[in-house]
Amino acid sequence: MKRLIPVLLAVLMCQSSFSQKKIWNETEEEKAERLEWWQNDRFGMFIHWGSYALAGRHEWVKKRERISDNEYQKYFDNFNPDLYNPSEWAKMAKNAGMKYAVITSKHHEGFTLFDSKFTDYKVTNTPYQKDALKEWVEAFREEGLKIGFYYSLIDWHHPEYTIDRVHPHSANTQEEYDKLNKDRDMSVYREYLKNQVREILTNYGKIDILWLDYSFPGKFGKDHDDWGSVELMKIVRELQPEIIVNDRADLKDYAGGWDFTTPEQFKVPEWPTYEGKKIPWETCQTFSGSWGYYRDEYTWKDTKQLLVLLIESVSKGGNLLLNVGPTGRGTIDYRAENALNSMGEWMKYNGRSIYSCTEAPESFSVPDHSLLTYNPKTNRLYIHLLDYPLQNFTLKGYKGKVKYAQFLHDASEIKISSPRGYWVKQELSENDINLVLPVNKPPLEIVVIELFLND
Ligand code: GLC
Repeated sequence: MKRLIPVLLAVLMCQSSFSQKKIWNETEEEKAERLEWWQNDRFGMFIHWGSYALAGRHEWVKKRERISDNEYQKYFDNFNPDLYNPSEWAKMAKNAGMKYAVITSKHHEGFTLFDSKFTDYKVTNTPYQKDALKEWVEAFREEGLKIGFYYSLIDWHHPEYTIDRVHPHSANTQEEYDKLNKDRDMSVYREYLKNQVREILTNYGKIDILWLDYSFPGKFGKDHDDWGSVELMKIVRELQPEIIVNDRADLKDYAGGWDFTTPEQFKVPEWPTYEGKKIPWETCQTFSGSWGYYRDEYTWKDTKQLLVLLIESVSKGGNLLLNVGPTGRGTIDYRAENALNSMGEWMKYNGRSIYSCTEAPESFSVPDHSLLTYNPKTNRLYIHLLDYPLQNFTLKGYKGKVKYAQFLHDASEIKISSPRGYWVKQELSENDINLVLPVNKPPLEIVVIELFLND
């Protein structure tokens, strides 16, 4: 009996924590259905826009330079994006092949791009006066793009938000924090947060994605209790039952607490898992090193790097959310615009290897210098050539699996035949096939071969 007690206790604890940790009821199948459009669309635009665009040196400028509220106020007082035309942004996103977009309704600085009943620190009180979020939603919907709101859990402006380690007034010791926070009441901020999330999920029609950012548990940090995440997420699910939510509210253990994971600014080595299962995921990436407009930032990725980010995400079952940081005048930086154009040019001919595609079945080996994606509905396999081969392209273990091969961009046949070459004869093993490619690389950054597979 003595030995049984700990076992019984563990079972009981497990059961009770399981029953407590549920935010809403949904079967795995229902969840898969809810996320289906998003997993098919694969490519979205992230937009970081706030009063920090005027500083033009990162959306974290207030923290990085420890700027006081008083001093930071000039960005609010001068916020007047006279060239703001969200339908231009929406067209750029659409032409790039993006199918959805997520904009910062409020970033860490606390400034809201929407009209809110709960604060004065909002766009309608700046010289711009209009609800920029409303205009954005209308323009993006008009272009047929799905709508997402980023909302910062962190707030560097709200007077009741307690100072923590990522705050511009961050300190070193508990004593210092106690002193800084003695007149601040986080529960007031929790209410504010709930009220504002309620506003953005009520006043703008159907919202497809919510991007909450972010928890940082631990010393001088904040976790789901600080945000009241459980209650918040219940409100979210109730107001927008079809919405898709990211995983940064520190609700990983709660069923219904999150829908997808969000690797940021790096490539995942493989399809991310949670408790042994592959989970929906989206990597968010910048064109350069900053999310908000950063005039003097020069680490811009080139077109090939950006395309690889997209293709590689899909090859591991994920999405790409690629960020632009519009300027204080409301325009998209020319460098981002050029990059979007180049991606769009590629997507026009190769989108078929991205949309509705996912990781290829394990039975297909990945040829050297290439990335595979697969469309389960059409049963086609896509080989993305990161380094264009010279004539012979051998596919190991593909014998009997391929019905037809073509370039994706122009639907021109690629012959399946024995390898070419003189003096050194290349033997094919009996499980392999060889494709004979033209010597000239077609004029595309990354050439894609489309294989029609046997059933
Ligand atoms: C981080 C940063 C933030 C950015 C976000 C995008 O959480 O704090 O500035 O908005 O990543 O994923």
